[in-house]
Amino acid sequence: MPALVLLGAQWGDEGKGKATDLLGGSVDYVVRYQGGNNAGHTVVVGDQKYALHLLPSGILSPGCTPVIGNGVVVDPSVLLSELSGLNERGVDTSKLLISGNAHIITPYNVTVDKVTERFLGKRKIGTTGRGIGPTYADKINRVGIRVQDLYDESILTQKVEAALDVKNQILTKLYNRRAIAADQVVEELLGYAEKLRPYVADTVLILNQALEQDKVVLFEGGQGTLLDIDHGTYPFVTSSNPTAGGACTGTGVGPTKISRVIGILKAYTTRVGAGPFPTELFDEDGEALRRIGGERGVTTGRDRRCGWFDAVIARYATRVNGLTDFFLTKLDVLTGWEQIPVCVAYEIDGRRVEELPYSQTDFHHAKPVYEMLPGWSEDISKAKSFSDLPKNAQNYVKALEEMSGAPISAIGVGPGRDETIEINSFL
Ligand code: GDP
Ligand code: IMO
Ligand code: MG
Repeated sequence: MPALVLLGAQWGDEGKGKATDLLGGSVDYVVRYQGGNNAGHTVVVGDQKYALHLLPSGILSPGCTPVIGNGVVVDPSVLLSELSGLNERGVDTSKLLISGNAHIITPYNVTVDKVTERFLGKRKIGTTGRGIGPTYADKINRVGIRVQDLYDESILTQKVEAALDVKNQILTKLYNRRAIAADQVVEELLGYAEKLRPYVADTVLILNQALEQDKVVLFEGGQGTLLDIDHGTYPFVTSSNPTAGGACTGTGVGPTKISRVIGILKAYTTRVGAGPFPTELFDEDGEALRRIGGERGVTTGRDRRCGWFDAVIARYATRVNGLTDFFLTKLDVLTGWEQIPVCVAYEIDGRRVEELPYSQTDFHHAKPVYEMLPGWSEDISKAKSFSDLPKNAQNYVKALEEMSGAPISAIGVGPGRDETIEINSFL
């Protein structure tokens, strides 16, 4: 059985955690391939609610092996506290595997993230402040620290010293901060080594062998397509590749093994942090979406910016990810609107534009062109099949499917595992 990718089709927070957890019961491995604890994935099982940041959402399914792939950046202190938090709630986390090639978010990466944002002032990205960008920068700059370095004190010390040689110059001379002592960082990192050792593994080999043995592997993206460093709204993006290609580089599994790419798509749009967002609402509709949808960040607690569904973005996500399916989430949140606007194209400097413009300047000028779709007022949270939905809700879903370019194979009508309408099976 080949591999599947599950990823965010918008700006993150589409409901990836819920969708992954739902599939987690039927797959053998759930693998994070990029990002780190900038992610906040909510999973609701019965009356229990879990907020996961670094651990794959498959950790809550007993038969599933959760894997942190080489493309992820790992903050060891966050990882250990997330593990112990789950253990206290009776979740068995002993199957977790962590790639020895994953990079470590060091304390100085977190410091650099925060001071850089402060220095940018009004031009800031609005990062989560978790050290994500600086850690990926170190990786690309070839001065990063990897999980495997925790097991060679001499190499670890050399690498931390080399990284801090430059960073301390920047911290003290540019940002007017105190220098960070290399030996303290080394000591802190070594303190995590033995606690993490049971989980560290050759995940590339394990995943490829699992696929050869017909096991089912699910790659769980963090963030979303429009936050992708290459394909997103640069520079207002994260520093990794949440798009489908990232699943290959971030795990060491080749593209020929992937048979299905599922885009998680919210029935409206949200965004956290700075950057363009054509359908953003600043009126009571935006406020209502935020309130009814509970649109508050799981990681930073920031209010999410809210707006109507944007089909231009959905089409773009289909294209850059090669999506085979969509999982439409939070349809229930739209209950009660008489008419629901959907953005079908943009107007940019007087021109109608059907596809996402590649130019940042154009995208900043994009104004949504709306089509009004009739709403519904019936409670849909108990719907179990497509035909249980009111006619106008069915038509809303069909219209989105037509505009977005891939079949909608599941619909979320509530946060719980079972509050899902399955249309086409994913497995
Ligand atoms: P992720 O980052 O993509 O995993 O998404 P988040 O967990 O950050 O945000 C999605 C929020 O929507 C969470 O609070 C989920 O519990 C919730 N959620 C997911 N699917 C649905 C749905 O179909 N309906 C409703 N009402 N809530 C949902
Ligand atoms: P999940 O996985 C929504 C946003 C931040 C900021 C930008 C860069 O829960 O969907 P970073 O700390 O990554 O350097 O911040 O990316 N961002 C997210 N927005 N959901 C996320 O994750 C996000 N992870 C990062 O708000 O705008
Ligand atoms: Mg989230």
